[in-house]
Amino acid sequence: MNGFNGGLLSALALTVGLGGVATAEPDDDSLTINGEIAIVTEAAAPAHLEYVDTVYSGWRFRSDETQAVQMDDFDNPGMLGVELGIEQWSAVDGSEGESCASCHGDVEDMAGVKAVYPKWNEGAGEVRTIEMQINDCRKTRMGAEEWKYNGGEMTNTVALLASVSRGLPVNVAIDGPAQSTWEKGKEIYYTRYGQLELSCANCHEDNYGNMIRADHLSQGQINGFPTYRLKNTKLNTVHDRFRGCIRDTRAHTFSVASPEFIALELYVTSRGNGLSVEGPSVRN
Ligand code: HEC
Ligand code: HEC
Repeated sequence: MNGFNGGLLSALALTVGLGGVATAEPDDDSLTINGEIAIVTEAAAPAHLEYVDTVYSGWRFRSDETQAVQMDDFDNPGMLGVELGIEQWSAVDGSEGESCASCHGDVEDMAGVKAVYPKWNEGAGEVRTIEMQINDCRKTRMGAEEWKYNGGEMTNTVALLASVSRGLPVNVAIDGPAQSTWEKGKEIYYTRYGQLELSCANCHEDNYGNMIRADHLSQGQINGFPTYRLKNTKLNTVHDRFRGCIRDTRAHTFSVASPEFIALELYVTSRGNGLSVEGPSVRN
């Protein structure tokens, strides 16, 4: 990783409360879920990354205790959301008398889908997050009401779709028609926000491996979303995590489902191309 930026260090020390700089790289633990799903938590950085050689899952920066919770589905509280998602998968809703299952069949048939989202949708002429695609199915195919973008039903269904892709490599397309959205996301990633004037990169690219307060700073990857956080004891969405990180820089933040966060999600996902889909993951 890059050397510690002095200006940033003092900014963090003064205003965020960086308590002594302990450099602790990601640990060497390896992740196999239920003794059978091998998860790639470290990979050669995708070619578009200029300043990072290796990408790591956030799991590698967590304590052994937190890591252990994700290693067995019986211990992982995020799997309760997946269970609810399974019920929703076959529940008929809306004017057309359809369920997800009536068109998509067994949810296992959706293996690999989560790994390529956000994804360009040709018909709509837009990059869609998986939440947008699900709501489009609800509205146009089921005649049902859209779910709240970061609400429980949606997040449980996203967790379900993530769970059937676990172990498969994240592989979002960033070229072709998705490129301009990706570039917009990249620009946001490197923009300094708030009173602290910190960009995502200042923390997650320049300083991963270091400690901020008691927190071991990761690369801010999103291959593990939705993420069950021990701190708020629920599944957390990507956009809510972005919002929390930006708020921590004392900046006004973009809203959930905004074009800015959709673009940022595509960009941040692409920084983890090659890592495994891991959701629902467990973090502190
Ligand atoms: C009446 C049939 C129908 C129903 C019901 C339906 N879908 Fe879809 N779904 C489709 C079609 C058709 C597509 C491809 C749409 C496109 O490319 O624009 C699709 C695409 C998707 C995709 C993206 C697949 C990919 O490979 O990119 C996801 C995820 C998805 N649906 C989830 C759901 C969920 C979750 C539900 C239930 C809440 C649901 N769908 C209900 C027909 C349906
Ligand atoms: C002041 C430093 C700081 C900034 C700036 C910051 N973050 Fe974070 N972020 C953290 C800390 C601390 C955590 C919790 C420890 C960890 O997982 O890295 C975190 C966690 C995350 C996570 C969860 C990772 C996981 O494995 O679950 C994501 C995703 C994330 N940040 C993305 C972003 C994005 C995108 C931006 C820019 C909009 C950003 N962060 C800006 C400090 C920061």
